[in-house]
Formats: sequence, structure tokens, C-alpha cells
Amino acid sequence: MTHTTSTQAWQRLTQLATTDGETEISGLLADPSRLERFSVSAGGIYADLSKQRISDAVFSALIDLAEETGVQAAAAAMADGAIVNTSEGRPAAHMAIRRHPPALNETFDAQVISSFERMAAISDAIREGSWQGVTGEAITDVINIGIGGSDLGPKMVCAALREFADGPRCHFIANVDGAEISSLVRELDPATTTVIISSKTFTTQETLRNAETALAWLSEALELENPAASPHVIAVTASTDNAMKYGVPANQIILFPESIGGRYSLWSAIGLAIAIQVGFENFRAVLAGAADMDQHFLTAPVAQNMPILLALAGVWNHNFLGMDSQAVIPYCERLRLFVDHLQQMDMESNGKSATADGDTVDTDTGPIIWGQTGTNGQHAFFQLLHQGTRPTPVDFIGCIEDTLSQPEHHRLLLANMIAQSEALMLGRSSDDAHRHYPGNRPSTTLLLDRLEPATLGALVALYEHKVFAQAAIWQINPFDQWGVELGKELATEILTGDAEHDPSTRALLKKTGLSR
Ligand code: F6P
Repeated sequence: MTHTTSTQAWQRLTQLATTDGETEISGLLADPSRLERFSVSAGGIYADLSKQRISDAVFSALIDLAEETGVQAAAAAMADGAIVNTSEGRPAAHMAIRRHPPALNETFDAQVISSFERMAAISDAIREGSWQGVTGEAITDVINIGIGGSDLGPKMVCAALREFADGPRCHFIANVDGAEISSLVRELDPATTTVIISSKTFTTQETLRNAETALAWLSEALELENPAASPHVIAVTASTDNAMKYGVPANQIILFPESIGGRYSLWSAIGLAIAIQVGFENFRAVLAGAADMDQHFLTAPVAQNMPILLALAGVWNHNFLGMDSQAVIPYCERLRLFVDHLQQMDMESNGKSATADGDTVDTDTGPIIWGQTGTNGQHAFFQLLHQGTRPTPVDFIGCIEDTLSQPEHHRLLLANMIAQSEALMLGRSSDDAHRHYPGNRPSTTLLLDRLEPATLGALVALYEHKVFAQAAIWQINPFDQWGVELGKELATEILTGDAEHDPSTRALLKKTGLSR
């Protein structure tokens, strides 16, 4: 396969970086047609990329790059169920699961339909109070025990859709740090609590450890011999066998398909906490919003394709302008966990050094994703964004309407967001070096009509597809995560005491009491 760096578009971009790399964004905006050409709407989201440092010549070479590297053909193959996760021999079916009805193949469709029927029935029963604990009381609190994709996605959606929450309270335990679960259970009544053990594999050490602690708490407080078989426990997994080995009976297990990757699993039964908190209809609306973005990704021409444009802006900034990180700043406190979710989605997908074919990549791949909500970030790290020596592209995310906020607050919030993108672009010259703002720092602004299930679904899918489009350009497989395995193996070796270690590791083990 021809390497991306050998494509004509890549070579043209390499040359353009020397001539157009420092072009003034404010000068580019003097072109009255720029805003229209660099903005696009889809799924209740407006994206303005006109403040990217992208000249017309660069824009046209980037479009060529997406076409030469076959981004949309790769997307179509993923949507059709091709084995896009080549190192694990699996399709990536997150687009198929949010189609209603699902339409991939007979086995997958049947599994999804049955999984969603069970999810709807269980979430309805818990919300209505007919799913009762052993003392006959309704459930008031749910603890989702899971980590990575089995935590970040549902936790982020539950926080973002707080406005729609009318079910039992949902709590999330991910870290194996026992202080978390111990303090949480102190606040809860075991008789009215149900624990969801969320794990695609049902082998994840942290999740199983936390689940053991939760089961011990239930067992002791409710005098249960087999708490895993009580209505206080539900398992969500892609491996019924592993969950059953753990003592959860089949009728308390919700199965989802193996072809749904961990970081794409909020769309599956891993989203059970979402359905419990906001109702299954709202969960469906999140999927429908994502499906709208899927359609846009698959059908909009490259130059008007929101995820591909975000991907191309990133490739230009990271590979050609040397900016190695990407800040994401939502101006909406309910989206505070969006960056955490995005870090896994992007960095676990595209933090790779091998091409899908097993060669070593010959260009940089996934950027470092970071950020937090504005205006908080303005009083923390925006100093570096404005005057630091490492220009960093920023994605600003705002909501046009916010019924939970108050008009004066909301005007202030949005004014700050818009001012920041303007300040980053314009800068301000001063003879006093301390007061000099270099400007010409690129940003994209995304505006959601309002934060609701469908626009949230579209926003998450937008970034999933941005990540996928960049992976297609860099020719990497975004669906495996071999990089996390080595550390897991060594932790097991440390715990079993089976391995020899270097002097530094030996000393750390001794000081922490992990070895004698
Ligand atoms: O360690 C990485 C990872 O495999 C993620 O990809 C995944 O989301 C997480 O662990 C949790 O895995 P599981 O859902 O199987 O417990």
C-alpha cells in the first residue's frame, strides 16, 4: 500500500507548509466567501472552521488528501460491517447499533434487538419501582461499576443530560482506589441500591475488584448468601460465560455484541445507566442523533463533511504546523466529562506507531487531547494558549440555547467563548514583551442548538468520525488497543511475585510493601 506521505496531496501540503503555514487567519477572513465555505451544519450542530490557519490552497490540498486516502470509502466499509479492526479480526459496529432498526447481519441484528428489549424492560422496571430489592423496596440508587469505555461514556452522558434526569440516581465507580467505593456505599441504602457490573470482557481487574467489594457490602448488609443472584446486581457484558462464572444468573445479564468496541459502547447496553436515569426513549434519542451524524459522514461531500473537516484541520495542525496537542473546551458545565470521554476515544484509538498493515508509521499520529470547561480553563491554562511557546489548536463547544442556565449567565458564558477564539486569532502587538499576544492561533467553534439527547449523540458521533477519518489518513487501525496490555501483565506479575525486576522497581516494591 502506498504510504500517505507518498500521496500527491501530502507532498503538496508539505510544500504549502513552507509558503502558507504562517498565513494570517484574520487576513484570510477578509474574503467574504470564507465563512460560508468553512462552516457546515449537521445534526443540530453548527461548525465554524474559518478561524483555522488554512488558506484556500491548503484547503484544496486537504480535500485531495481525504479523497486520495479514501476516507469515505473506508467509512462506507465500516458501516457495511467490513473487518476494519484487522488485528482482532472484527468489524466496528457502533454505526450499525444506532441505526433503528439495526441492519448489519441476521445475528447482529437479533442480538441488538434482544439486548435493547431487555435494556428497555429493566430500565423501565427500575424507574417504575417494579424492580424491587430483596426487602420489597423500589430502587433509588444505581452504581455503575466499570472502567474505560464501560464508565466514561455513560458517565459523561448522564452528566450532560442532567436536565432530563427523572429516574433513580446513578453513581459511577471506576478506579480501583478503594476509597471511592467505600465512601460511596456509606451514603447509600443497600436495600434500595442496584449495582450494574459493566464490562465488555468481564475480566477487567479493577472492575472485578470493585464488584467483589460491592457484593460483600450487599451480602453483609442484606444477609444475602449469593448477592450476585439478587435483584441488586445486573451484569452488562459481551461475554455471558464470564459473567455467569462470576455468579450472575443469565436473566440478570444483558449481552451486547463483541463487535462494539469498549470506547464506542455507550450506544449499547453499556448505556443502561443512561436509560435508567433519563428513560429508554431519551437513550434512543441519543442514538438517533448519532445516526444523523453517521448519515452526514457517509454522504456529505468531503468539503462540506463536518467530521472530515475537523479531521483535516487536525492533520494540518499536527502534521504540518507541528502542533502536537488539541485542546477541547466546552462552554457548558454539563459537558465537563466530555473531554475525559474524548481522551479515551481519540488517544486509545489513534495513539499508534504501526500502520494497519503492520509497518511503522512514517508520520506523527494521534494528538494529545486535553481540556476542561470554559470559563474555568480561562483562569487556569489559557495563559499558555495565548502567550505560550507551543501554539495549540482549540475546539470551542457552546450551546446556543440553555434552558437550565439563566439568561445573564448564558450571555456571559457565550461572550467569553467567542472572545477567546477572537483573541487567539487576532492577538495584540505590544512593545512590552509581557503584554504581547502573538495571535494567529487556530480554533474551531462548534455550536449546539441546545444540549439535548439528539445533539449530544451527534456531538459524540462527530468526534468518533473525526478520529476514524484521521486514522484512515494515517493508515492506522483505530479499533485495537494493544498498548494497554503490557502494563496490565506486569501488574499481575508484581502481584504474583513471579518476576525479576530492575533496581528502581525493586526498591519501589519494597518501600510500598508489595515485596519483602
Ligand atoms: O484497558 C483498556 C480497555 O480494554 C478499554 O478499551 C475498555 O474500555 C476498558 O479497558 C474496560 O474493558 P471492559 O469493558 O472489558 O471491562
